[in-house]
Amino acid sequence: MSARSRDLPRRSCLSTPGSNEKFLAKAPTVPADMTFLDLEDAVAPLEKEAARPKVVDAIKNLPWDDRVLCVRVNAWDTEWTYGDVIEVVGNAGERLDEIMLPKVQTAAEIVALDLLLTQIEKKSGLPAGHVGIEAQIETARGLINVDEICAASPRLETIIFGPADFAASIEMPVLTGGVDIPEYPGDHFNYVFSRILMAGRANGLQVIDGPFLKVREMDALRQYSMRARMLGYDGKWALTPDQASVLNEVFSPTQEQFDHAYDLLEAYRKATDEDRKGAVMFGDEMIDEASRKMAIKFVSRGERAGLTRSAD
Ligand code: GLV
Ligand code: MG
Repeated sequence: MSARSRDLPRRSCLSTPGSNEKFLAKAPTVPADMTFLDLEDAVAPLEKEAARPKVVDAIKNLPWDDRVLCVRVNAWDTEWTYGDVIEVVGNAGERLDEIMLPKVQTAAEIVALDLLLTQIEKKSGLPAGHVGIEAQIETARGLINVDEICAASPRLETIIFGPADFAASIEMPVLTGGVDIPEYPGDHFNYVFSRILMAGRANGLQVIDGPFLKVREMDALRQYSMRARMLGYDGKWALTPDQASVLNEVFSPTQEQFDHAYDLLEAYRKATDEDRKGAVMFGDEMIDEASRKMAIKFVSRGERAGLTRSAD
């Protein structure tokens, strides 16, 4: 795993086509927590190999801030994966935090990438274990194997749901993946979201939702992404700068939630340390050790988003 990026926030994960110099140049100016330069589905087959040096150049020469920086390579069932990894990781230098592997179906695919990264790190003088892995679950087989996939390598930092490819894989009769389906009364992906979340959390990974393809519909994005947030997801992909701004907000606690959590922790600390009580009243509710665990998440996420306790 990449020691630098593992715990950095990923509320918004900006997808940038690796073949397009204009989009590459703009990417560092978009306020996203994480940016990935894509060699997979946003790049036409005839441009795949030409995109590799463009991506390397962008990583080395553009003014990236401290965001997580990642490259999505092609899946193992193509002819491009090993070439993508060798050329990009072998030349990009230490600023590249991670490789994203799409359409992961088995733990062996993660192990294969881990072994390849280990050799490239040795050969190119990168610190051992420097490059982390983000894995996408976007097929029925990948979902069935998600527990083993999430445990396959210490390099893994996130597990990601890919709704568009997943809808195709399970033959859902839709033409846009990752948006509401009015004909289905409920959340058609609830099982999938929960399944991936359990596997990710059980293995200490961040858990991320994929793209929302109706890129002009900000209210619909806000509503849809709030579901993933409420289940416990850490963030979601952004396809545009406007989507990134919405997601940064959706995946951060509000000031009110932050203050409430902060006060709860203080009341609980006083109860346990000073009054020697394990369960006490806080306003009109009973709090105990489990409440502390919930509150601490709000405070750490809020602090990562730059919040501080409001003055009373
Ligand atoms: C993302 O890669 C998706 O297929 O949704
Ligand atoms: Mg996909």
